[in-house]
Amino acid sequence: MADQPTREDKFSFGLWTIGWTGNDPFGPPTRPNLDTVEAVTKLAELGAYGLTFHDDDLFPFGSSDAERQREIDRLKQALSDTGLVVPMVTTNLFSHPVFKDGGFTSNDRAVRRFAMRKVLRNIDLAAELGAKTFVMWGGREGSEYDAAKDIQGALERYREAVNMLGDYVTDKGYDIRFAIEPKPNEPRGDILLPTLGHALAFIETLERPELVGVNPEVGHEQMAGLNFTHGIAQALYQGKLYHIDLNGQRGIKYDQDLVFGHGDLQNAFSLVDLLEHGGPAGGPSYDGPRHFDYKPSRTEDYDGVWASAAANMRMYLLLKERAAAFRADPEVQEALEAARVPEIRTNTLNDGESYDDLLADRSAYEDFDAEQYFGGKGFGFVRLQQLMLEHLLGAR
Ligand code: GCO
Ligand code: MN
Ligand code: MN
Repeated sequence: MADQPTREDKFSFGLWTIGWTGNDPFGPPTRPNLDTVEAVTKLAELGAYGLTFHDDDLFPFGSSDAERQREIDRLKQALSDTGLVVPMVTTNLFSHPVFKDGGFTSNDRAVRRFAMRKVLRNIDLAAELGAKTFVMWGGREGSEYDAAKDIQGALERYREAVNMLGDYVTDKGYDIRFAIEPKPNEPRGDILLPTLGHALAFIETLERPELVGVNPEVGHEQMAGLNFTHGIAQALYQGKLYHIDLNGQRGIKYDQDLVFGHGDLQNAFSLVDLLEHGGPAGGPSYDGPRHFDYKPSRTEDYDGVWASAAANMRMYLLLKERAAAFRADPEVQEALEAARVPEIRTNTLNDGESYDDLLADRSAYEDFDAEQYFGGKGFGFVRLQQLMLEHLLGAR
C-alpha cells in the first residue's frame, strides 16, 4: 500500500480549495469560514508541503494596508511554525464587480490599469514569500456575446499586460515565472485562451516567452472533451509545464473540481505515469509542485474537508505505486514491445537519408505490401490496455 504523504512529494493546496465554504449559484455557504492559520496547520499535519493563494483569499478585497499586513504576518508565522512553503501565488481578477468584464482585457481601460496594479502589488508579495510561480487564470477574460468583444484587440491587451509583468520581474530581479491557466468557459460564456493549445501558441507571441509557461487543470481540458495526459505530454515536450492543477472531472459539464482521480481515473493513471516516469521512453518529466485545485463537496463538514484533502494526496500516491508496478511488470514490457510502442522513437528516415533516397527506396513503396494490414499485423493495443487496467485495479 502507498506510503503516507511527505514533504518530498511536493503536494500543495490552494487556500481557496479547502477554504471553499460551499456557496454556489444556487445556494449560500454550507460551512463556516476557514482561518488561514488553521489551514496551514492542518495541511502540514496531513503531509502537504505547500499552500498557494489569491491575494483576496488572504486579505479581503479593499483591506487597509494594516489589515493586509496583519494577515501576511499571521501567514508567515504559521509557515515558520510548520515549515510549509508558498510555491505559487495568484491574483483574483474575477470576483469583485470591477472585473465583471475581465481584468487585463476589460473593454474599460481604467479597469485594465487597475488590474495591472493589483497584479504588480501581488507579485511583490509573491517574491517576498519566495514563490517561484505566479499563476494567471483569466476566468473573466472573455465574453458571452461575439459582438461585445474584439478578440484580436483583447489578445493584444493580454500580451501587453504579460509583457509588462515580464519586464517587472526582470527589472526587479525576481526569480518568478508565470503560468497561464487555460479554461474553456465558466464563469464567462467563452474564456480567452480556452485550452492548453491556445495558451502555448499565445506564449510564443510574447516578448519574453521563456518567462511564461502553463498551469493546466485536469478538469478544464476535460470540460472541452480533451485528453489531459496528451496535453501535458505536449506541454512537457515544449518545456512549458511550469505548474499543474490536479482535480477530478466527469465529462463535458461544469467545472466539478472533484478530488484528483475521482473523475476520469484512467486518465489520472496515465497522467501520474507521465509525471513520474516521463512517458514510456523516458523524456522530460515534471518535478514541480503537485498542486490540488479541487473543491471539497458542499455536502461535507470540516471532517469531510480534511478527509477529501487527504484523499487527493492518497489518490496520487496510489496511482504512482500502480504506475510503477505497471512499468516493472515483464509482461507489460513484452506487450509494449509487441504493440511497437518504443518504435515511435526511431526516426522515420535513415541517418542522412534525403527525400531522393526515400524516393529511390522501392521497399518503401513499390514493393511494400500494404495489403498485409488487412486482417493481419494487429497492434495488440487492447491487450496492453487490459494489462494497464489490471494494474490500476490491483489485480496484478
Ligand atoms: C477555476 C480555476 C481557479 C484557478 C485559480 C488560480 O476554475 O476556478 O481553476 O481555481 O486555478 O484562480 O488562479
Ligand atoms: Mn477550475
Ligand atoms: Mn485551477
